[in-house]
Amino acid sequence: MAAHLLPLLPLLISLSHFALNAAAAGASRCAIPPDGGSTIRILHAFGPCSPLRQAAPFESWEDTVMDLMTRDESRLVYLASLAAAGAGARASVPIAPGRQLLQIPNYVVRAAVGTPAQSMLVALDTSSDAAWIPCAGCAGCPPAAASFDPSHSTTYRSLPCGAPQCAQVPNPTCPPGAGAACAFNLTYGGSSVQAGLAQDALALASEVVPAYTFGCMQKVTGNSVPPQGLLGLGRGPLSFLSQTKSLYASTFSYCLPSFKSLNFSGSLRLGPAGQPQTIKTTPLLSSARRASLYYVNLTGIKVGRRLLDIPASAFAFDPATGAGTVIDSGTMFTRLVAPAYTALRDEFRRRVKAAGPVTSLGGFDTCYSGGAVTPPAITFMFTGMNVTLPPENVLIHSTAGSTTCLAMAAAPDNVNSVLNVFANMQQQNHRVLFDVPNARIGFAREACTI
Ligand SMILES: *[C@@H]1O[C@H](CO)[C@@H](O)[C@H](O)[C@H]1NC(C)=O
Ligand SMILES: *[C@@H]1O[C@H](CO)[C@@H](O)[C@H](O)[C@H]1NC(C)=O
Ligand SMILES: *[C@@H]1O[C@H](CO)[C@@H](O)[C@H](O)[C@H]1NC(C)=O
Ligand SMILES: *[C@@H]1O[C@H](CO)[C@@H](O)[C@H](O)[C@H]1NC(C)=O
Repeated sequence: MAAHLLPLLPLLISLSHFALNAAAAGASRCAIPPDGGSTIRILHAFGPCSPLRQAAPFESWEDTVMDLMTRDESRLVYLASLAAAGAGARASVPIAPGRQLLQIPNYVVRAAVGTPAQSMLVALDTSSDAAWIPCAGCAGCPPAAASFDPSHSTTYRSLPCGAPQCAQVPNPTCPPGAGAACAFNLTYGGSSVQAGLAQDALALASEVVPAYTFGCMQKVTGNSVPPQGLLGLGRGPLSFLSQTKSLYASTFSYCLPSFKSLNFSGSLRLGPAGQPQTIKTTPLLSSARRASLYYVNLTGIKVGRRLLDIPASAFAFDPATGAGTVIDSGTMFTRLVAPAYTALRDEFRRRVKAAGPVTSLGGFDTCYSGGAVTPPAITFMFTGMNVTLPPENVLIHSTAGSTTCLAMAAAPDNVNSVLNVFANMQQQNHRVLFDVPNARIGFAREACTI
């Protein structure tokens, strides 16, 4: 393991102290009040208030540091695979793409599944339509997971092969014979997952969705499957948005808590009611090639007051190829295609020259050890909306080693078309509004604790 990773270790160790102390000290701090109305508490998957904290895959701190970036790498591969998967534009989006899936998502909410309700954690993913839940008796599911027991639900039913939803999942297995249950398998990193397609009542907030379609996980091989379920908030037919259209009108917003927040809790707000009335917005764009994703038109980047010289091709939206810029809840650090990232990084380095020589740390190429770094404001300019990020959205710190890094990176150049990803660290402590009926994405600063 490279020695240059060591400075970030104290940050992770202190995070782990939160986790270890949480069971005792956190009992009161983490006494999470019930979710109210259509507002749902969002937890960081590894934060002190998350029941998953012991399940965090912290084999070693070095591995975890590497994971931060390697997870994002596989996330980018996943996002790119959305375009590669369909030879032509598909009318239906698979419940999960058959190949490389996504890395362990960062934010979870509680869901009530079945009748009577069983409480499950599900990860939020705006770039996927999947919903899957570890089911009782699942062979090889991660042990930390609470599993859903269909036999204790009076409203559970498995979907037959003839159901239209069965045509939307990858590799469906349909044994001959009438009324066979629809099963499918998919791969997730190095793991493979076998699931049955099912329906049951599901509620995030007070409203119950009577027959929500999801994959009931029955068998897992390998160990890269996250210990919780997953809820896709993408735009395809099987996503939460599509399945709850009559309830929530394809509208939601979230406020993602900072990694540094002791409370580690933000909120997911469903439906048009209660959304901010005054919020800056930019048009929401769609690509048939990557139909699940939330595209926006990034038009420029400013560092301080300086507009960077970036070729328009780095930002150009092309619905046919899926090139452009997406807002994603599952990628941790914003990725920009090489010419855009290089321009941003170079100007950033010029501005913080006084902080000393540039070093690298893990996947970050612009880090400083020792001196305090006062970053310039970074403004992402979208059509009709400028988002100026404060330092907390721009820098990632390691505490004891006092190393500070620019928390963004270049997009891997092996993806098959230009894709910029505006990721969750840059969205933290903002309310981000996804308003599909009005085709807009909104941003407003907000302290994300409830
Ligand atoms: C997929 O499912 C089929 C039938 O259930 C099974 O034979 C096959 O081994 C599975 N593949 C994987 C990779 O799990
Ligand atoms: C935690 O949340 C409470 C309100 O719920 C707030 O008063 C407090 O400042 C928060 N603490 C931190 C460290 O964010
Ligand atoms: C994106 O913004 C650029 C620059 O303002 C503009 O030329 C282009 O038409 C916009 N694209 C879309 C899809 O709105
Ligand atoms: C965004 O910033 C640019 C450059 O400062 C400015 O010209 C533009 O009017 C701003 N757009 C909005 C919507 O405020």
